[in-house]
Amino acid sequence: MSVTSAPSSRAATSAAPPPPPSGPAPAAAPCLRFRGLAKTFPDGTTALQGVDLDVAPGDFVTVVGPSGCGKSTLLRIASGLERPSAGEAQVSAEQIGYVFQDATLLPWRTVARNVELLAELHHRPRAETRRAAAEAIELVGLAGHEQKLPGALSGGMRMRASLARSLVLEPQLFLFDEPFGALDEITRERLGDELLRLHAAKGFGALFITHSVTEAVYLSTRVLVMSGRPGRIVTAVDVPFGADRDPELRFTPEFAALCGRVSAALREGHS
Ligand SMILES: Nc1ncnc2c1ncn2[C@@H]1O[C@H](COP(=O)(O)OP(=O)(O)O)[C@@H](O)[C@H]1O
Ligand SMILES: [Mg+2]
Repeated sequence: MSVTSAPSSRAATSAAPPPPPSGPAPAAAPCLRFRGLAKTFPDGTTALQGVDLDVAPGDFVTVVGPSGCGKSTLLRIASGLERPSAGEAQVSAEQIGYVFQDATLLPWRTVARNVELLAELHHRPRAETRRAAAEAIELVGLAGHEQKLPGALSGGMRMRASLARSLVLEPQLFLFDEPFGALDEITRERLGDELLRLHAAKGFGALFITHSVTEAVYLSTRVLVMSGRPGRIVTAVDVPFGADRDPELRFTPEFAALCGRVSAALREGHS
């Protein structure tokens, strides 16, 4: 769907709260569910407090918040690397994909061999791994670069390889920690479009962290705004645009209105 073809009812809801559901909720069971989540580190630092959060398959949930408010801690709890100090953290996804700002490719392996890495570590059969890696490389737009080493790739290409490496495992839940933060704006926007396409094709649930309000609204089905530390979710903004967004969306009044709401919530949570 392009912006211009958006049904007006969708556009009309963008500046107002979403209407109440009219029947029994058809929502899929969440692949990630946090309830009353809190995290205090052994040194006494409380990073998170009272966080409720659901990500269902097909959701693209973005979290924005000031530096140090606990966003990475939230993702580390989702990934199982960190345990909450209070509350519930349920993750029902069989496979989880991770993409961080640093693509962490092995410099001595080619693109193809890097993309095969996680499947190898999971002891997937060799032929299946090669087939899945070739498909993932094609999906992220790296076809033709399979035999290059990471040192020969641009930042955007390294990020594509990192995405492909996780895609090979067909994750039901993807965790992104400011993945495009180190990239220039054009590359960042292009990768955002690719990610939207992948999300629509694969239907995974996504929990995405970013500093950019525009990126959050462009990619998401829901934007969550966190307060300063200890991080709490102070505002949730549902994004009514359909899956096939195009770059022009960023220049529409509906888009600007949503960005304005998110920015205002960020300022309030910060003060
Ligand atoms: N292992 C740790 N021990 C103590 N404090 C930590 C630890 N990890 C993170 N913190 C602190 O918790 C807060 C939240 O960190 P983080 O989740 O990385 O924030 P964000 O990703 O939002 O910038 C920060 O004040 C950080 O210094
Ligand atoms: Mg962080």
